Order: sequence, then C-alpha cells, then structure tokens
Amino acid sequence: MDHFAYRNGVLHAEDLPLTAIAEAVGTPVYVYSRATLERHAQVFRDALSILPRVHIAFAIKANPNLAVLRVMQREGLGADVVSGGEMARALAAGIPAEDIVFSGVGKQHHEMIAGLEAGIGQFNLESEEEGIELAELAAGRGLTARCALRVNPDVDARTHAKISTGKAENKFGVPIDRGVEIYSRLAALPGLNMRGVAVHIGSQLSELEPFEEAFGKVGALIAELRAAGQSVTHADLGGGLGVPYRPGEVFPSPEEYAAMVARVTADWDVTLMFEPGRVICGNAGVLLTRVVRVKRSSNQVPFVVVDAAMNDLARPAMYGAWHDFDAVKPTGEKMTAHIVGPICETGDTFAMNREIDAIGVGDLAVFRTAGAYGATMASSYNSRGFVAEVMVDGDKWAVVADRILPEAITAAERVPDFLD
Ligand code: LLP
Repeated sequence: MDHFAYRNGVLHAEDLPLTAIAEAVGTPVYVYSRATLERHAQVFRDALSILPRVHIAFAIKANPNLAVLRVMQREGLGADVVSGGEMARALAAGIPAEDIVFSGVGKQHHEMIAGLEAGIGQFNLESEEEGIELAELAAGRGLTARCALRVNPDVDARTHAKISTGKAENKFGVPIDRGVEIYSRLAALPGLNMRGVAVHIGSQLSELEPFEEAFGKVGALIAELRAAGQSVTHADLGGGLGVPYRPGEVFPSPEEYAAMVARVTADWDVTLMFEPGRVICGNAGVLLTRVVRVKRSSNQVPFVVVDAAMNDLARPAMYGAWHDFDAVKPTGEKMTAHIVGPICETGDTFAMNREIDAIGVGDLAVFRTAGAYGATMASSYNSRGFVAEVMVDGDKWAVVADRILPEAITAAERVPDFLD
C-alpha cells in the first residue's frame, strides 16, 4: 500500500497534487511519501515482532537521502551501510553508532578506522583477509570490533543475475563449508569479537524458498560453530524481500516472511538481524517527469520522449526492470507507446510497446516504485545534472535534495595549465 492516489482526477502524493510539485521544483524530480515510508517500516517491524530478539538495519543503499534516513531513525531502525559515505550519512541522520552494521567486500582501512572510532555495532566480514586487517587496526587502537562472518551459502535466489549474491560464484562472503575454520581463526585474534554469522543471498526475491534454504544452512553452521566451542549470539539474515512492480504481481508479505523465519530459527537462541531496503522504501517514491515530445515519424508505435532518462532512473536500462508509468492527469484514453529518455543510446528506454494513459507534449507522468535504487543510482551521463528530491508529509512538502545543475558539475573540473 502507498500514498500515491488520484483525487479529482489528479495524482496526489498524500494530500498534495503532483502538479504543484512540478510547478515549484520542475521535472524530473523524485517525490517520496513520508507516510508510506513510515507505514512500511512499521509493517516490517510489526511482522518481525513474533521473533524474540530482533535488530532491523535499513539498507541505506536503497535510499540514502538524509530525510529518508531521519524517518527511519524516528521509526527506531538502525542502518546497514557499505561505505564510509553511507556510515557518515547514517550518523548524520541521528542513527546511533551501535545500531549500524557495516557490510561490503571492499572495506578500506580508512573506512574500518572510521567505523571503529565511531563504535559501530557490527562489521560483517566478507573474507578472512578482511578480518585479519580489521583485527590489526582495532588492536592497534586498543579497540574491539564486534563482527559477524558473512557466509556464502551457494543458494540460487532466483532473481536477476546482477542482484544475486548467494551463489558460490558471487563475490560475497566466505564459502559456508569453510565457515567454522575461518570463524575459529578470526575469533582467536585480539581486536575482534566474533559474535555471529551473516547471510544475504540477493535482492528482489519473489519466493520464500531460497531464503529458507539459505537460513537452514546458516542454522546448521551455527550448530557446528557451537559444537566447535565458538560463541554465536547474533545472526544477520540480510535483506532481499521483493516488492511488486507490475500490476498483478504477488510477493510474500512481511508476515509470511516472518513466519518462515520463526520456524527456521526456532532453536537458534540468537539476536536476529535484518537488512531490508527495497521493501521499506520501494513504493514510497515516484519519479515525476514531463513529456518533451511525442515522436510519430514512422507509422509504427510512437516514442514518448520524457525529460527523465536512464541517468536518473537506471533500473530499466540496467536490469530490464519494469516501472509502471501513469499520467498525473489521465483522460481515460489509452495509447500504446515506447517510453524513452533523451540520452543518446538505445538503452535509455523505460518501456517498449507499453499500453499507457494517452499523453501528449507537456503532460506530467510518474514512474512508480522508484523510492528504492532510484535517485541513489543516478549519474550525470550526457552532462545531465542530478534530479531534485522532495518529501511530502500530508499537505506539506520540502525539497530534501537540491537539483544539481550541469554547471555545478562542470565547475568541479579543471583544464590544466599544460593545455594552455
Ligand atoms: N544487505 C546487503 C548486504 C545487500 O547487499 C543489500 C542489497 C541489502 C541488504 C538490501 O537488499 P533489499 O532488501 O533492498 O533487496 N540496484 C539493485 C538492487 C541491488 C541490491 C544490492 N544489495 C536494483 O535496483 O534492483
């Protein structure tokens, strides 16, 4: 459920017509609904409340906007971060350091040091090498890093190959069958407090079975670790629960997910940690865009050229992803069109042969479900700027990220003297 709905024929974000935002801020612009963000955080938290000890860390890569993070902080969520930049954002949004989990295969020393000095809650180690380096950095400072070992369970998440992370050939985690050996060696190092295991098999999962298979393997590993004399008090089950992008798609609900987790983890006796991203913020955002031109130069399907492009919303170009496209003021008429952006490559295509609301030059429309992996994946390709972001709260709204104009990007570039 989201708070983007038609009232008097005009698409609103909560109580605000999107036409008002387009007029004030211009297009393209991402628009987030605070009520939707809160609702999803609450639904997820309530679903997991059937489990004894839970820590939820919002995967901020999905939407790192500071205002969005502040909503998460107010909902009591921690943060899953994968870079020093994300950690700094989480802290800036007021998320307590101890509620931050640091994942990622390529943590650099300056990032590990920043995490140690901030006192973050947990490092999810992706390799033995990383653990050894972190141990040295921590011990050298008289600190101890709380850690989980991320394991790769070799499970097919049955999602898009580019966002699958739990197969043996993926770069993430250590092979689960080497888990006991690596965990035990790391646990012996000064500077590390090995307290748990972590797993994340992919994103936009549409079925519970792959999760269940992976979690089952993690449960077996926990038993083996304990049998080997290791202490395991935490298990981080990652994120990955998918959301519907197309009409009629059905996904497991947070309640169904929680029931499966409760069943599989019944005898684990650990604090369970979760890293949801998309399920919290995916349908809490739309990308508002305006039609630049309708190109009918052949007698085939017309091209609707919008002012948003693959640099603003990369998912269709990158993953062939579907985002619903709806007119802000639909007439009731329909048309079939290709929806494209202005960028000079054919990959800048949002949809082919799509039945959409009849739309013409100057009309406004939205790409739905753009609140996750939208603005954050933007680039300035074709010397386009970065789009603005707006948050709506009832009938109030605010720009929560300024539009960055192409001139500002050019201003950061220099022509060296030797080219004079
Ligand atoms: N935890 C870890 C360690 C992750 O790598 C991810 C996502 C998450 C949690 C959150 O997953 P979620 O609950 O959002 O599925 N750009 C792609 C998605 C990449 C996901 C990367 N990792 C897309 O637009 O579909």
